[in-house]
Amino acid sequence: MKTKALLAAALLCTACTAQTQQTNNTTATMEKNGKALIVFFSHAGENYAVGNIEVGNTKIVADYISEQTGAEQFEIVCEKDYDMPYMKLIEVAKEEANNGELPAYKGDVDCAPYDTIFIGGPIWWGTYPQVMFTFFRDHDLAGKTIVPFTTHEGSGLASTVSDLRKAYPQANVLSGFAIYGHEVRTGKAKVEKWLKGLGY
Ligand SMILES: Cc1cc2nc3c(=O)[nH]c(=O)nc-3n(C[C@H](O)[C@H](O)[C@H](O)COP(=O)(O)O)c2cc1C
Repeated sequence: MKTKALLAAALLCTACTAQTQQTNNTTATMEKNGKALIVFFSHAGENYAVGNIEVGNTKIVADYISEQTGAEQFEIVCEKDYDMPYMKLIEVAKEEANNGELPAYKGDVDCAPYDTIFIGGPIWWGTYPQVMFTFFRDHDLAGKTIVPFTTHEGSGLASTVSDLRKAYPQANVLSGFAIYGHEVRTGKAKVEKWLKGLGY
């Protein structure tokens, strides 16, 4: 109960900035040419606001992006098993974030051939899940155009854009796109509109 109240407070704190971020996110135009890759993390199973889902919310957005842009995908899959009830997962994720853990992920991708890297994930405690930071540690994306996106339940982009700019000071990190997780299944048009604004 205490945890639920804590997470609700976290959602409220960041929700107020979400709207502004969502309206500012299509201002940058980008090269339509160039090879694009989508790097994302998404958690299927029991989740907030959408129940027990077979395909994660962020994965659905990644698929919309691939459909419109032709971008290839690399899914960050944690070595660690996150198959657990939502209330347990938020505790595990909080611990990881507080301790700055960098859990290992499965497989890898060579980012060198890509000019544009879409980076997407759910908001977990105000930013991307820790395993995504493991990926950032392992990949130098200097000189690339990075397009952040998130799915969330009130926090919008939260600190993902600033975290990416910190991880990649030599990259061109765009302002990003955020959509509610419970909206993605009916929100394809929103994603398409955002991509159109980027020149796709
Ligand atoms: C561990 C955990 C922490 C979360 N923390 C937040 C948060 O701080 N802010 C927020 O808006 N949503 C939060 N959420 C909700 C998710 O961001 C949202 O449901 C997202 O769409 C899940 O995407 P996915 O299905 O691709 O994993 C959290 C969910 C989980 C499981």
